Amino acid sequence: MVEIVYNDTPFSCADGETVLDTLFRHKADIPYSCRKGTSLTCLVKARDGDVPEQAQKNIRPALAGQGYFLACQCPSAAGLSITSGDDAVLYRRATVQRVDKMAPDICRVTFRSSTPLYYRAGRADVAAFVDNPDLSGWRAFICGYPAMVREARKTALMAGIPIPHIHADPFDFMDLRSAEREGERVRPDGW
Ligand code: FES
Repeated sequence: MVEIVYNDTPFSCADGETVLDTLFRHKADIPYSCRKGTSLTCLVKARDGDVPEQAQKNIRPALAGQGYFLACQCPSAAGLSITSGDDAVLYRRATVQRVDKMAPDICRVTFRSSTPLYYRAGRADVAAFVDNPDLSGWRAFICGYPAMVREARKTALMAGIPIPHIHADPFDFMDLRSAEREGERVRPDGW
């Protein structure tokens, strides 16, 4: 039976599972979010065993060089021994310099990081499309404020996703607290 070792505990693997699948099925304590290799939430570190390139594709070279990889992108394989990520390596201290209220529900936070940041500026959807210029065979699920959804739909189409496979859900925030009245139905514009 194939086993992987996580924080010194062995876990049996089923066929076709990723490391995250295996640990999740055994209810091991491992953070995760998207399961698609995007959020980087499931970063773990290899002690022993081979980590395929695809499992290190989206992480910065310095971390990959230390054996970090994405558990959701790595097939479970015999001989793989891993540990949780080290917070001191993965996170940086920062000091908040100022907070500006931009709109009722939006703040801009300015902070100073103790070390240089590894980041990419810009909107998340734009960054995602830059990483994946050819999306033929994909489906896109896009939601958010209308202008962004409109643009992202166009980009998805240009990148090769047929219209029936683009699922778009534009929405705007509306503060209903002051609008609510007894016996009155409140309907956002456009319904
Ligand atoms: S869970 Fe998001 S990258 Fe693995």
